[in-house]
Amino acid sequence: MSAEIGYDWKGGGEEWSEPWGNSSAQWFGSIFPRIQEWLPANTILEIAPGFGRWTHYLLEHCTHIVLVDLRPDCIDACRQRFAAKSNLSYYKNDGRSLAMVADDSIDFVFSFDSLVHAPRVALEDYLTQLGRKLKRDGVGFFHHSNLGSYAGSMDRRLPKRARKLLTKIGLSESDHSRVPDMTAGIFRDLCAERGLKCIRQELVNWRGRRVLDCISTFVRAGSKRESPLRVSRNPDFMREAELIRRRAQNYHSINEQ
Ligand SMILES: C[S@@+](CC[C@H](N)C(=O)[O-])C[C@H]1O[C@@H](n2cnc3c(N)ncnc32)[C@H](O)[C@@H]1O
Repeated sequence: MSAEIGYDWKGGGEEWSEPWGNSSAQWFGSIFPRIQEWLPANTILEIAPGFGRWTHYLLEHCTHIVLVDLRPDCIDACRQRFAAKSNLSYYKNDGRSLAMVADDSIDFVFSFDSLVHAPRVALEDYLTQLGRKLKRDGVGFFHHSNLGSYAGSMDRRLPKRARKLLTKIGLSESDHSRVPDMTAGIFRDLCAERGLKCIRQELVNWRGRRVLDCISTFVRAGSKRESPLRVSRNPDFMREAELIRRRAQNYHSINEQ
């Protein structure tokens, strides 16, 4: 699922957490364990926050958070949702620019469930700028597409219409609107060309068996946090979601939905 043009945002994005039970279960069971090492962080930059599904939790772990999204309705929704807080800055951008962010100012840059849909040029531009915007020992955590690694598969070589039909009749898995021009390897190379270094990459399946996505953690080259790259392939990411969902169901308060 993605927030395509015309998406009504009725659920504020909460609906995308359904495989994990809800956004709280997804945050505490899946996302937080993957970033807790880098938190708290003084200044967090969140790229593409949507209606603030993760902002709500990130706020607990920083003194200031900068939100950048290309959709004005998303930025407005975040302004409303977090109106009682004074430690957020809000920017609508063009999907590529971080000009509003000062150099050497970001301790942690985060993006989840958004850049999987962003074209390679957007990631190239963001990474180029993050080479300067991140503090010396700042850390980045990006969830991005790995769909490009399936370029050679039979269904990916078919015309789009034929592929859609195969998906509809259950003979091919949906690509969940991932961009086809990104892979874990390309992301790693883009980082290296821009003075950044990937230190972790977890290839994960997304709502199916295919390892469509990658979660990359990166730092500036020469940072005290630089370490040899660890790549792991996790085709059980959605099984993990299912276990988290079951636990959330068993332990949720009777007042929660
Ligand atoms: C599927 S929503 C997810 C929002 C949020 N990350 C969440 O998980 O609830 C995708 C969001 O990414 C934003 N977006 C997509 N491409 C972007 C880009 N290149 N730069 C900034 N925002 C982008 C959209 O405007 C939308 O708010």
